[in-house]
Amino acid sequence: MRVVVTGGAGFIGANFVHLALKERPDWTIIVIDKLTYAGNKDSLPDSGYEFYKLDIAIQNQELEQVIKSCDAIVHFAAESHNDNSLESPWPFIESNIIGTFRLLELARKHHKRFHHVSTDEVYGDLELDSSDKFTETTPYKPSSPYSSSKACSDMLVLAWIRSYGLDATISNCSNNYGPRQHVEKFIPRQITEILQGRQPRLYGSGLQVRDWIHVDDHNSAVIKILESSTMGEYYLIGANGEQTNMQVVKKLLKSLGKSEDDFVHVEDRAGHDLRYAIDSTKLQTTLGWRPRYSDFDAGLEQTIEWYRNNQEWWEDAKRVTENNYLKKGH
Ligand code: NAD
Ligand code: TYD
Repeated sequence: MRVVVTGGAGFIGANFVHLALKERPDWTIIVIDKLTYAGNKDSLPDSGYEFYKLDIAIQNQELEQVIKSCDAIVHFAAESHNDNSLESPWPFIESNIIGTFRLLELARKHHKRFHHVSTDEVYGDLELDSSDKFTETTPYKPSSPYSSSKACSDMLVLAWIRSYGLDATISNCSNNYGPRQHVEKFIPRQITEILQGRQPRLYGSGLQVRDWIHVDDHNSAVIKILESSTMGEYYLIGANGEQTNMQVVKKLLKSLGKSEDDFVHVEDRAGHDLRYAIDSTKLQTTLGWRPRYSDFDAGLEQTIEWYRNNQEWWEDAKRVTENNYLKKGH
């Protein structure tokens, strides 16, 4: 099978390429990536795949030829950071909505299998003190320019399935952690702050809850859906990893030999979602998927180790990212 991986130089896409080369050696992997600030070719393996530097939001012949040559598309490419979307929404509209539209049109024209990678943030948030979880029937109610652009892209995929019979599936996953995540995101930002001798920063109270899943578990679910699901199905992916942001920061500080209280509160994010939680029963019962990283603390240790051992991968991006956060007052 020739599989196009859009956004394959980003966090989840690059880990997908590593996993697929290991677990599906008979696949040919073709990476398409614009190499925005979030894309990094050093995240990819040294060899074993094809690479095309292309913008999915711009119609062009090379993009069409690559899509024409494949059997399936796994669509990760997106602008992905909520804070950036609040500062500057346009790139999110362009890559996440127009980019998905262009890919859907190419998949329709050339009759390709399409898997759309999305987020649980399309559902908005849950109350902090409830035990509710998102399911496949939760209504969409996105909060930020990022989550609304992802919600729009999901709607496009649903319409292409219904109106054109596109052989497509959708997955909505909770917050990922693991190696190769950009240092603008919560966990790598705090790990690298501590490694550089500064204090982790919690937005607002720090009591917001995220449902963490290891990136390899997300990607094993995507492979399962790609291989086993029928057209038009959509799945929530999660691994029961609910933690408050403060709990995560305290774990990181302890692991790195600091006092658990050595953090600061900073100004809260506008429209900050309170809590996400996933019920992944459908994926588990209909496709038999199970997460491998059931122990969040062990996964966090592995992630800390990766950042400790790969400083050359993150230090340039760290400088730029922290300058940007400083300009925003964080
Ligand atoms: P990321 O920002 O680390 O990587 C995105 C990649 O897409 C980058 O390599 C970037 O260069 C590329 N890209 C962006 N715009 C492009 C364009 N117009 N054309 C081609 N390439 C482009 O993001 P990530 O965390 O790896 O997320 C990947 C996908 O998974 C996204 O669709 C995101 O919405 C979804 N998702 C992420 C999470 C999470 O916790 N990170 C959770 C659920 C779903
Ligand atoms: P983030 O990694 O940006 O993911 P998302 O917005 O998709 O959930 O943030 C995760 C949580 O961490 C979110 O509640 C915001 C919070 N956060 C902080 O408290 N401090 C930080 O420096 C960052 C980047 C995020």
